[in-house]
Formats: sequence, C-alpha cells, structure tokens
Amino acid sequence: MKNRMHQMIIAAVAFCAVTALAAQSIEKKPFGEVDGKPVDLYTLTNTNGMTMTVSNYGAIITTLTAPDKNGTYGDVVLGYNDVQSYVKATPYFGAVVGRYGNRIAKGKFTLEGKEYTLATNNGPNSLHGGVKGFDKVIWNASEIKSAAGVGLALTYLSKDGEEGYPGNLTCKVTYLLSNKNELRVDYALTTDKTTVVNVTQHSYFNLAGDGMGDILNHELMLNADKFVPVDETLIPKGVLEPVKGTPMDFTTSTAIGARVNTATEQLKFGKGYDHCWVLNQVKPNTLTLAARVYEPTTGRVLEITTTEPGIQFYCGNFLDGTNIGKNGKPYNFRNGFALETQHYPDSPNQPTFPSTVIKPDKTYKSTTIFAFSARK
Ligand code: GLA
Repeated sequence: MKNRMHQMIIAAVAFCAVTALAAQSIEKKPFGEVDGKPVDLYTLTNTNGMTMTVSNYGAIITTLTAPDKNGTYGDVVLGYNDVQSYVKATPYFGAVVGRYGNRIAKGKFTLEGKEYTLATNNGPNSLHGGVKGFDKVIWNASEIKSAAGVGLALTYLSKDGEEGYPGNLTCKVTYLLSNKNELRVDYALTTDKTTVVNVTQHSYFNLAGDGMGDILNHELMLNADKFVPVDETLIPKGVLEPVKGTPMDFTTSTAIGARVNTATEQLKFGKGYDHCWVLNQVKPNTLTLAARVYEPTTGRVLEITTTEPGIQFYCGNFLDGTNIGKNGKPYNFRNGFALETQHYPDSPNQPTFPSTVIKPDKTYKSTTIFAFSARK
C-alpha cells in the first residue's frame, strides 16, 4: 500500500514537471509558392502549449491559440489554410500592414515641399500601404529562442519609391510568443530619406473560436475618452471628439453588438465600428493599456497594451461570406474584429495629429502586446 502511494506520488510529480516544463519549440515547413518563390510556415509553441503559426508571406499570423476558462487552447484568429487563398483574396487576415496602415486621403501627401502620389485602392483613398503593401510581400525570417519565449524576427526592405513612398525603408517586425501567453510585437524601422510610416498588425479575432459565428457578444473596453470622427470615405474630419454619451463610448466594458446598429452618422459611415480611438496615454511612446475584450461563453480575455497613440477598432463590417476560412466555413458579416494599434488615419495630411514622419537619423520603434487569459 505504502509502495503504491509512493509510486503515485512519483508519477504525479513527474506529470507536473512535464506539464510545467513542456519544451518550447519552433518548427518550419513549406507553405507553397508566391510569384515562383517558396514561402514558409513556422509553428511556435510556448511552454504552456499555446501555439502560433506565422508565414513569412505578409508576416501573416495564420493561427493563434488561447486558453478558455477550462484551460483548453483553441484558435482565436481568422485566416486560411493555404497561402494561395491569401494571395487570391484576403481582407488583410493576420498580416502586418504598411507602410501606412489605414487611409491616406486621395492617396496624396506633401513632405518637405514635395507632393507624393500613391495608388488609390479604397474608393478615392489609399488604404494599408497601397496595391502591394507589406501584407503581400515576402519577408526574411529568423528564429528566436529565449527564456521569455519563442519568436520570429521578420525583415523587409521597402525600396525608395515603392508604392509611391519616398526612402529605402528597412523594416523589422519581431513576434515573441511569451511563456506568459502574450504575443509581443516590436517594430523597428529606419529610412534613408524622410518618409511617413504607420505599421500595424491586422489580425481578426473571434475569442469564441475561429469560425464560431459573429463577435457581437464580445465585451469590449477601450481606454479612450475620444475618437477620430470621419467623413463618408472614412477620412478624419480633423478634430477629435469625446465619446461620452455616444455609442463610441467603450470606457466601460460593453458588448460590441449592444449599440452597433444605432442610427448615428459615424456608425452609418463605418457600416458599424471602423474608427480610430484616441488612447488615454499617460506619456507618448510608453506602453499603455489600450483595450480589453472578454468573451462570456469561453471566458477568454484579450488585453492589448501599446506604445501607439491610437487603436482602430473594426468589427468586420465588410466580411460578407465570400472568404471561406480554415474550418471550411464562410466568414460572414461581423464574424471577426480587428484592434489595430496605430497612429491616426491620414496623419500625413493632418498637422494637429501626432506625426507619422520619420527621418534618417532615428530608428522608429513601436510595441504592442496581446495578452491572453481566461476568467472562470
Ligand atoms: C481596416 C479598415 C477597414 C477595412 C479593413 C479591411 O480595419 O479600417 O475599413 O479596410 O481594414 O477590410
């Protein structure tokens, strides 16, 4: 009897040790070809068993698992199983967008007395870097293994004049899947000519699980007393407005669906939420809590902190069932939401907004952390 107890204790201790110290790992496999060039898919696993798959095509996060209230990990981002689907048609699922995430009015801006013209790919405006933005290029990837977690450093040189933007821009995006169940994204950019940048991560989340229908029951908190009102083409009007007393007020946690269909001008222009919120930053360029999202059926929580001054909250208003996702199910209206940490839209044409201009003498740095947990 004593012997049996002893054996059981040894087994239990061994089991705990294995669960606590599960090895972190990175695996690389081919993910098909783009423009005749091979691209890869990396699977990152942390010590808790949380996984993330990332392609060096578009720096796209194709899957990301997070624990629910029972400790079960499930995929919480939208995307495809194969690279060709991303090449064919994607509303920026999981990608890094740039050089300029969000819109630039009429695809034009003036810098140091010179006017630059970009392709207009969103009505009259330029969106997410143009026709071939950072989401559609092949990045160089190198693996990172540290005590904090596993990651990928992705680099890309955007040549002077690419998509109409000035300057050779060297971009480094580092994804770190930490052993605290955080995805940390660091951006470091340098240029050889004055230029504008606004890079961000464009993952679509559904904390109930990928392919689990609409996201209207998710409860959202945005640490923002103001937002950026826009015109009918989603270009800022140039002022910042208080959210208080409007459906844009997420200062206390509120279901996304609670007020999304209110008949206001802003919600009509966005077809729902598709706006940039002005974060209550204590100090510029310091990590600040931006958003917290809670999904009541699974208990999953996503908390976002960032050094950026704004966050674009988009609730999937353009999803219309034409994109068939990883589960073979169509992504319908509002089946995912994006929370894109960034500078405000059209900043190059808005002198009162925080500047998006970068100069050759300085490295532009930005950090965003997506932390996953669950409430019982
Ligand atoms: C951003 C924009 C939206 C839309 C999506 C992609 O969130 O603000 O208007 O373009 O990207 O479909």
